[in-house]
Amino acid sequence: MNRTRAIVIAGALLAAMLAGVLLRSGQDPVPVVTVPQGVPPLPDVVAAAGDGPILAWSARSEGRFEPCGCVAGMYGGLVRRATLLARVPQDRLLSLELGGWSPGAEDHQRLRGPAYLAGLRAAGIDAVALGKPEAALGAEALAGHLAAAASAGIAVVCANLEGVAVRAWVPVEAGGRTWAVTSVVPDRAPAGPGLRLRDPAAALRPVLAAGLPVLVMADMDEAGLRALAAAVPSLDLVVGGDVQGPTTEPEPVGRVRVLHVANHGKSIGWWPVGGDRLRFELIADTIPDHPGVRAVERTHQGTLARTALAIDRPAADAGWVGSQTCMGCHQGAHATWAASRHAHAHEALVRKGMDADPDCLRCHVTGLGQGGHRRLSGPGPLAAVTCESCHGPGRDHIAAPGPGTMVPVSPATCVGCHDAENSPRFDYTTYWPRIAH
Ligand code: HEC
Ligand code: HEC
Ligand code: HEC
Ligand code: HEC
Repeated sequence: MNRTRAIVIAGALLAAMLAGVLLRSGQDPVPVVTVPQGVPPLPDVVAAAGDGPILAWSARSEGRFEPCGCVAGMYGGLVRRATLLARVPQDRLLSLELGGWSPGAEDHQRLRGPAYLAGLRAAGIDAVALGKPEAALGAEALAGHLAAAASAGIAVVCANLEGVAVRAWVPVEAGGRTWAVTSVVPDRAPAGPGLRLRDPAAALRPVLAAGLPVLVMADMDEAGLRALAAAVPSLDLVVGGDVQGPTTEPEPVGRVRVLHVANHGKSIGWWPVGGDRLRFELIADTIPDHPGVRAVERTHQGTLARTALAIDRPAADAGWVGSQTCMGCHQGAHATWAASRHAHAHEALVRKGMDADPDCLRCHVTGLGQGGHRRLSGPGPLAAVTCESCHGPGRDHIAAPGPGTMVPVSPATCVGCHDAENSPRFDYTTYWPRIAH
């Protein structure tokens, strides 16, 4: 954690406490200062810990700065995680990013990888692991990410990956103790072109030779984490991973302690080192942004808005005409649509400053990458969930108006966008009546 950021947030917390005091004691209930809402208190076991090191980690974040916000109540995201981490003084915090942070291999996702690593630096993360998704990227893409990490000044470590130059481990000091921090990827995981995975236990031997207690981050399931701890009994800590669910206490395997929390970067695992309880804390969408990480995220969206991507290449025009063209013959349907949120789906992205991000646009506009909405040319007639998002391209129908020329629509059409993640409350019988035409 950058010290100024920590001070800014500590100041905001103090202001929030003062405002609370004013509210409770004063005659005038109007708060004088604007304070960020919703920075929760530290989890009990952390608040109760003495001066020793505090371990904090998240796993499988998929490089998300924040969840999409399609519905309220979504968890996760680095912009809010960083705010939660900043509650602990940096000199006591040992903060880790486990494997699974790579957003993916498409070109816009490969741009987000380096941005996310810079965000981890702004969040004060001490060390970053490689996991199965990173090994799958292959040597070329991964080398690009590692170069970006080096220039951002964030330590990425892995002991058992060959084919790119990556440090096996780094020393990390917290609360008066120092660990050799490293990571391993399961050797049976698919490795992308140019990469090879060695046996984790063998690869950890040189790290142990450094003579420090060794903390291994491992992108493995529960059984894999335990097996690793059993195979290398002189490790200190094994932190995972790619698991089904969180644990509430560190699991002893011989002298090794095994710890893990659930996936998707939705929570932080907290452990006052040596304590008998650990906590996982969900990262709620009511937590204020960390200004430093938000600045990195904004820069990334600016990059997306300036960079031509594969999806911008001219594609054969599938025959999009825009909702305006339908209005003359289908006035009732058009009026219903124009009054619905579908007609404003692109504006929702503009409000969030994310209207250049293909990961958002694909459900919020019409015909992205199929000769429809053009990402870099500003909003046009296809910058919405239009008639044609559901009924298909209209050109042939306009040429010969009548039945049988539009794509048939069914509830399955809706679920392409209203999926479990982005619209968890979707139910055709309650949603359709709101847009019935
Ligand atoms: C898989 C399709 C899909 C993707 C991808 C997607 N959205 Fe959405 N989004 C939806 C749907 C569907 C809704 C409406 C959900 C509901 O009300 O049930 C929605 C709603 C929203 C809303 C609420 C709008 C309002 O008026 O309240 C915002 C904001 C939003 N999305 C932003 C984003 C952002 C930012 C991204 C990219 C990070 C994104 N969406 C990616 C499908 C998607
Ligand atoms: C020039 C007039 C005209 C225009 C413009 C027009 N339609 Fe139609 N549309 C019709 C007629 C006529 C029918 C047949 C009506 C019927 O069967 O009751 C029809 C039927 C449909 C149907 C039902 C299809 C079926 O197979 O039963 C859909 C869906 C539809 N139109 C969508 C659209 C959309 C979307 C647009 C804009 C892209 C559009 N129409 C533009 C005249 C038009
Ligand atoms: C191309 C993607 C897409 C398809 C297909 C789609 N939607 Fe949507 N829908 C969205 C998005 C995006 C939003 C949120 C728009 C906003 O608020 O900015 C949304 C919002 C809605 C809303 C408003 C939710 C609310 O809280 O009022 C309703 C209702 C809805 N959709 C119903 C449907 C139904 C029914 C279907 C299928 C017949 C469907 N949608 C198909 C993307 C889609
Ligand atoms: C979110 C998806 C969605 C959007 C957007 C949408 N429709 Fe529809 N439309 C449907 C569904 C679903 C049906 C019902 C199909 C059925 O009953 O089999 C339908 C039915 C229709 C029909 C046939 C009605 C009938 O009586 O058979 C027409 C015409 C039509 N839509 C035109 C339009 C036009 C024009 C627009 C844009 C102004 C539009 N739709 C936007 C999903 C959509």
